[in-house]
Amino acid sequence: MSQSEQWEAVDAYFAAQLAPDDEGLRAALRDSEAAGLPEIAVSAPQGKLLHLLARIQGARTVLEIGTLGGYSTIWLARALPEDGRLVTLEYEPQRAEVAARNLARAGLDKVAEVRTGPALETLPRLADENPPPFDLVFIDADKANNAHYVEWALKLTRAGSVIVLDNVVRGGRVLDADSGAPDVQGTRAALDLIASHPRLDGTAVQTVGVKGWDGFALARVLA
Ligand code: SAH
Ligand code: DHB
Ligand code: MG
Repeated sequence: MSQSEQWEAVDAYFAAQLAPDDEGLRAALRDSEAAGLPEIAVSAPQGKLLHLLARIQGARTVLEIGTLGGYSTIWLARALPEDGRLVTLEYEPQRAEVAARNLARAGLDKVAEVRTGPALETLPRLADENPPPFDLVFIDADKANNAHYVEWALKLTRAGSVIVLDNVVRGGRVLDADSGAPDVQGTRAALDLIASHPRLDGTAVQTVGVKGWDGFALARVLA
């Protein structure tokens, strides 16, 4: 077995043991694929990690930036109480529609709401509504704007809220300080912000698995 085959085999083992799917999750992936969406959702063990983080946090409210077909949204929304609320932001109308259907089929349409448009436009509109602070924010959209999304997350959270940022390693590309790639620069700017902001305390953890070599950044919002 090649190294990446080993990573995938271990992920399959962990997924079967600890993050088993069900019809809601399977159907979401099936319909996303049928609609031609790219296969870039979090893995099952990663989805379960998001779910557990939300539970450990006792989250009642979650904000997600970057919905795709709603696979990570389902893992997160299932961590919320019946009267909880999840808002997820998606740029592409077709993806937002696929996600809304997937959430409805999973019985989560009362809890989870998909908002369509560029997040840098839908975030200020959301802020204008003065929502109760979000307990957890999952940032997983266009990586070029990652620092802007962390700034928005700070505006929309409270002391003790958790911010999770996906795809901070990208096969090691994060190391390339001189990269001309906007996604690398966006993620590096977000990590700089987490490292230097007086209201943030964070870390980053590398992962291997079906999604290759990548990782998450995690931050806690301070008073
Ligand atoms: N969180 C999903 C995967 C999201 S993929 C999961 O793990 O299941 C990233 C998504 O962000 C894509 O669907 C893409 O269309 C969306 N996106 C890209 N730029 C965006 C923007 N400016 N505003 C909102 N969403 C954006
Ligand atoms: C891509 C985006 C993601 O959010 C991810 O988890 C993996 C890949 C991408 O745009 O290639
Ligand atoms: Mg991602």
